[in-house]
Amino acid sequence: MTVQPAVVAHRGASAHRAEHTLAAYALALEQGADGLECDIRVTRDGHLVCVHDRKVDRTSSGSGVVSELTLDRLAELDFGHWHDELPASADALVRQPLAAPSAPPVERGLLTLEALLGLVADTGVKLFVETKHPVRYGGLVEAKLVALLTRYGLASPATKDDSRVVMMSFSTLAVRRMREYAPRVPTVLLLGRLSAARRDGTLPPWADYTGPGVHLLRADPDYVARSAERGHDTYCWTVDEPADVELCRRLGVRYLATNSPRNTRHLLGSA
Ligand code: G3P
Ligand code: CA
Repeated sequence: MTVQPAVVAHRGASAHRAEHTLAAYALALEQGADGLECDIRVTRDGHLVCVHDRKVDRTSSGSGVVSELTLDRLAELDFGHWHDELPASADALVRQPLAAPSAPPVERGLLTLEALLGLVADTGVKLFVETKHPVRYGGLVEAKLVALLTRYGLASPATKDDSRVVMMSFSTLAVRRMREYAPRVPTVLLLGRLSAARRDGTLPPWADYTGPGVHLLRADPDYVARSAERGHDTYCWTVDEPADVELCRRLGVRYLATNSPRNTRHLLGSA
């Protein structure tokens, strides 16, 4: 019997709510996601925040580079105004909501990684954390991530399968650092292209899962089987089209990142 892929909400249910907002993640949980994906960056004063781009211009009411802005300044910005309407309040869903008086409602304000960990703490879902700008900050993001996971008791799972958190990066250097700092936390090496060194399914020893974009599996579906032969399960991104969902299911992809957990669950259910 084929095991269905686990459904991971890419930036939350980002087809329906503004990405990386509490509203997007709360909706992903409502839609039955098995996992949540987020990108993290570090602020000028050293906090880990869930923002994809180097700058906040695309996704917030402000502008500027995340690493040059303080947490307080970022907390004043509205990260939901550019997207479809958001629900009234989700304060009860976070353990430590940001409470700056001038801040937008919590469900569309800046989301810290700590608040996201709080959201998933009492659920069974896994958090897939992608560290950004690994070269420029020389391991700072990974070191801060491990410090936070250690504080929450998440840095030393009994087995990799038991881990509540999975670390991901396109950078082999970042993945290697993560393995050094927290050897028991599973890692994904994300791939935007299949280099000659990766085509046969080989990964560096510090990566557990392979993380190809779905475009790579369309071009080379057997890559999943070759990776499996080398002991690596596949995390595939970003899978929204019905034909791609079916391809991942057929190939035995283990984790499938989608912008709409609801639609993808429906497609998997009707396969
Ligand atoms: O889940 C991996 C995927 O998120 C990588 O691409 O640009 O959306 O971070 P990006
Ligand atoms: Ca990402």
